[in-house]
Amino acid sequence: MQLKGKTALVTGGASGVGLAVIETLASKGTKAVSLDVSEEAGQTAAAVTNDKYGAGSVTFIKCDVTHVEQLESCFKQAVSVLGHIDIVFNNAGVILENRWEYMIDVNFKGVVAGTQLAVEHMRRDKGGKGGVIINTSSYVGLVPKFTHPVYVGSKFAVVGFTSSWASNPYMKDMGLRFGTLCPTAVDTAFHQLKDEQVRYPREFRESVKMQTLLPVPRAVEGFLQLVEDDESNGSNLMVMAQGNLYQQQVLQDGKGLPKPQFYFFPS
Ligand SMILES: NC(=O)c1ccc[n+]([C@@H]2O[C@H](COP(=O)([O-])OP(=O)(O)OC[C@H]3O[C@@H](n4cnc5c(N)ncnc54)[C@H](O)[C@@H]3O)[C@@H](O)[C@H]2O)c1
Repeated sequence: MQLKGKTALVTGGASGVGLAVIETLASKGTKAVSLDVSEEAGQTAAAVTNDKYGAGSVTFIKCDVTHVEQLESCFKQAVSVLGHIDIVFNNAGVILENRWEYMIDVNFKGVVAGTQLAVEHMRRDKGGKGGVIINTSSYVGLVPKFTHPVYVGSKFAVVGFTSSWASNPYMKDMGLRFGTLCPTAVDTAFHQLKDEQVRYPREFRESVKMQTLLPVPRAVEGFLQLVEDDESNGSNLMVMAQGNLYQQQVLQDGKGLPKPQFYFFPS
């Protein structure tokens, strides 16, 4: 997909990866609507982006993705701002093992609701224009980790859900593509957490310390790879500091899904 002149909706757009994706899209001529529960940060970030790339590059709308009706209403507002939406990035996420039901609502229910709204809006067989839906999972959406098991479960759920949509045999008529972004630990505020937010805080911190934190622009590159590659559907892109692993599951006409394969792309 060529990004110039396209439109995008991004959840969790007030900070971190979501914000960096919005800035990059703006730099490439893609207008965005940013949805986030954090109003002040979202408004401030949108103002900075609009100053840099021109008024209307991004519109911020306060939204808590755990409230499905609120998300529906914000999605409708986004459509009225943008006309139609070509890219939906369901990216809002939290680590809160001490509030695990809420965490599942943000990390999985919000992604399900956002994906379903995107499918209904975009599907060509119902009058839409097609599009790309990228959901943020994590490295720990593909590899288990004992330190924060509910978070990990919610991210495995994102991979299973998104891959299932990607394997839909009617996808060609719908004109849709799907992918999950699965970064290793990214250098965002996400890691500034209190002990109770994970189950084993000491081991969690040790494990993060042992990794090279992924610079945010590398996560953005992963997102762009999934969106810009027209052949990509059902890809779970593990973005790492030293290259990417690309679990490619492209639906082939009449043949169903091929066996997942890992390809290594050095950075
Ligand atoms: N930082 C990492 O190490 C890492 C690694 C892999 C995956 N991820 C995932 O990447 C995504 C982005 O994380 P980040 O690192 O940019 O962190 P971040 O905390 O900077 O961004 C997350 C954003 O989601 C928003 N948000 C939280 N709850 C929300 C809700 N109910 N409704 C709407 N917005 C809500 C927050 O306000 C915040 O702006 C998350 O899904 C996270 O799970 C992060």
